[in-house]
Order: sequence, then C-alpha cells, then structure tokens
Amino acid sequence: MHRHYTGGGREVRAVDGVSIAIARNEFVALNGPSGCGKSTLMHLIAGLDRPTSGQILVNGLALHQADEKTITNFRRNQLGIVFQFFNLLPTMSALENVMFPLLLQGVSRDESERRACETLTFLGLAERADHFAHQLSGGEQQRVAIARAIVHRPHLLMADEPTGNLDSASTASVMSALQTVAEQKLATLIIVTHSEEIAAAASRRLSMRDGKIIDETFT
Ligand SMILES: Nc1ncnc2c1ncn2[C@@H]1O[C@H](COP(=O)(O)OP(=O)(O)O)[C@@H](O)[C@H]1O
Ligand SMILES: [Mg+2]
Repeated sequence: MHRHYTGGGREVRAVDGVSIAIARNEFVALNGPSGCGKSTLMHLIAGLDRPTSGQILVNGLALHQADEKTITNFRRNQLGIVFQFFNLLPTMSALENVMFPLLLQGVSRDESERRACETLTFLGLAERADHFAHQLSGGEQQRVAIARAIVHRPHLLMADEPTGNLDSASTASVMSALQTVAEQKLATLIIVTHSEEIAAAASRRLSMRDGKIIDETFT
C-alpha cells in the first residue's frame, strides 16, 4: 500500500509500497527513524487515514473501501489504541476512563464498571481506580490507557511509542502490561517502539526507512 502526501509542490511518500500480513495474536514491533512513516502506517491500519493506493484488510474488513460508519464501528469494537501521551480524560477517574469505551458501545453503567474494574485489576491497578490522571505516575497513566484500550476486547491493539515519554522503571511496567496482553493472546499487538526491551518481547520485528519495510526478523 502507499500513502503519499502532496503539499508545497513536493510529494512525500510516507508509506511507499508496504506489503505485510500479520496473523491473529501476533506481537509485532515496528521501529525506524523519525519521519520514516511509522505513525502513518499505524493510522492506515487503525482506519484513521486512507491509503493513496492499495488495500488494507483487518480481520476480513477492507478498510480502504469501507464507509465512515463501518470504520467507526471497526474502531469502536475491534481496535484498541495507545498513544505516546496517554490521553486520559483529566476530569474522569481511572475507572471512568476505562469504562468509557464500553459506554460508547452501549454497555450498561453497572456492567461497564464491573468490566473496567476487572481490567484494571488484571493490569495491577485496582488501587488506582479512583485516582485522576494527575494523581498517577506516567507508567500508571499509560497502564490505565492500556486498560482502556483492551477493556472492550479488541482484536487488534496498537500502540505508537507507548514508552516514548517514560523513564526506565515505568517503561518496564508498561512493557510487562503489553507482554501480559500478548501472552494471554488477548489481541494482536502492533507496537511502534524504540525500546529494545519491548522489541525483544515481540514475535516479529519490522524496521522501516523512507516509507518502506527494510528488514524483518522473527524471534
Ligand atoms: N498529514 C501530513 N501531511 C503531510 N505530510 C505528512 C503528514 N503526516 C506525515 N507526513 C510526513 O510523512 C512522513 C512520515 O511521517 P510519520 O508517519 O509521522 O513518521 P514517523 O512516525 O516514523 O516519525 C514524514 O515526512 C512526515 O513529515
Ligand atoms: Mg510517529
């Protein structure tokens, strides 16, 4: 697939002829220098952007030709996404943040609360449920963001430099949360990361340069 940007008279080939197949419950780590197209590739797979040409199939759904409603449903039901800067809603507690995707799906408040508690407990955050983002460490905030991204049991969990803003102790805690998701085969994982530790835990490593996948290692 390709994703080219045009502007200011020049063309940027952000994703340039990438062809990959990722199996269910695989754990893929993606790396490469800044500007090589990692985030663009993630956005394409997440249905946040559309390819200039080519096809993207996720769990049988053809994202490149899906309408907005189908993409919204895909994102709501099948996808979990974690960003570098946590993006927790500051006026909500950890528990409420994690309940949010379920409420969006139309799950009742009681059931959402029960499942959000269960997911926070699963990631070792039970005692943090009533805390607000500013009362949590960076690593805890990112683990709450992971809980929010998996609470609705998505097929695919994507994270774009999830430890890019964390110290090494927090990186280790986030890393172990992601590893738990992978080991229990809760979702397919695609993680953009510069962390050697996280990449080492992946079952496959992809390296990008200039919009292309230039190296692939299975571990
Ligand atoms: N919305 C956009 N419009 C124009 N160019 C973009 C846009 N998004 C990304 N780019 C360009 O595409 C290339 C890849 O960017 P990106 O996917 O963010 O790389 P990475 O995540 O690896 O740092 C860069 O040259 C960037 O400037
Ligand atoms: Mg990026």
